[in-house]
Amino acid sequence: MTAIAETTVLSGIRATGRLHFGNFMGAVRHFVTHQQHGNRCMYFIADLHTLTTLRDPEELRGNVIEIVKDYLAAGLNPNDSIIYAQSSIPEISELSLLLSMIQPLGELERIPTFKDLVRKNSDNVTLGLVSYPVLMAADILGPQATLVPVGEDQIPNVELARNMARRFNDRFGTTFAMPETLKEMIKVPGLDGEKMGKSEADNAIDINAPIDVIRKRYLARGITDPQRMRTSDPGDPYNRCRSVYPLHELITPGEADSRTIAKECLAASIGCVECKKRLVDSIAAILEPFQERRAALTKKDDYAREVLHEGGKRARRIIAETVEKVREKMGIIVY
Ligand code: TRP
Repeated sequence: MTAIAETTVLSGIRATGRLHFGNFMGAVRHFVTHQQHGNRCMYFIADLHTLTTLRDPEELRGNVIEIVKDYLAAGLNPNDSIIYAQSSIPEISELSLLLSMIQPLGELERIPTFKDLVRKNSDNVTLGLVSYPVLMAADILGPQATLVPVGEDQIPNVELARNMARRFNDRFGTTFAMPETLKEMIKVPGLDGEKMGKSEADNAIDINAPIDVIRKRYLARGITDPQRMRTSDPGDPYNRCRSVYPLHELITPGEADSRTIAKECLAASIGCVECKKRLVDSIAAILEPFQERRAALTKKDDYAREVLHEGGKRARRIIAETVEKVREKMGIIVY
């Protein structure tokens, strides 16, 4: 008898660019942790969702492959996790279409992420943008995901998938598992103190940048306590430091303990330059082993494609099983 995983962890990342330190700490690191707990893990690249905002086909293709390499270098193991591209599973698109038939339009227009996307793409409000959450519901419900780790901004979309599951199950009998949101993804502050990776701001740390470059970027652009004029002035790490101290709290462990740093800042015994240097040491401790593995994958595009191909086959078997039931319940027959 094959063991059926009780928990299916699923999450996706859009291929709008290369991964940054915020994605790495906020998302990918957690993906690896779940993989280590014997859950069924499905991690995909939402390339179709990417089409709502990215218009350059070459760039999209490149991003997909580079993100797969980042996943692998971060510790995702293609034997333990199912790694795939959303578009490689046509049943996801089919499910999205079927679900759209029972999705009230008004509910979609009320979702904050939709309003946000419309604001940012006001010159190009496509049908794809409106139906973005329906496709996302298909991503989640197709594989019967039970745990969906996402950042805070995506919670309304997962909520919609839950509503959709409830609506469908009520109308057609139990078909979909109820997905739970996992609010474990931390918001990582970028150089300016805003959430890292906001597309308008140049505030992200490239996980593949040499540590020296990261150090220079923090020294030049990392925003600390703006009211601290001189090193001899005490700083306020908790309330006024925007980017550097809050990141220490998230990533600086043990010896270089963030509380020590806060005390030293409050007592004016260290300045912001020293604080930034220690922060970059903490970043280096996390990124160096990653970058070493990542460098070994630089020329391995074929391997990345192979991972997607094999992952796609596994994901497709799982998703096709659900979609077959959905079709049948809704009255659709493949003649
Ligand atoms: N919309 C998500 C984002 O921008 C990406 C995504 C697409 C996703 N489908 C998903 C995340 C399904 C979790 C589950 O971050």
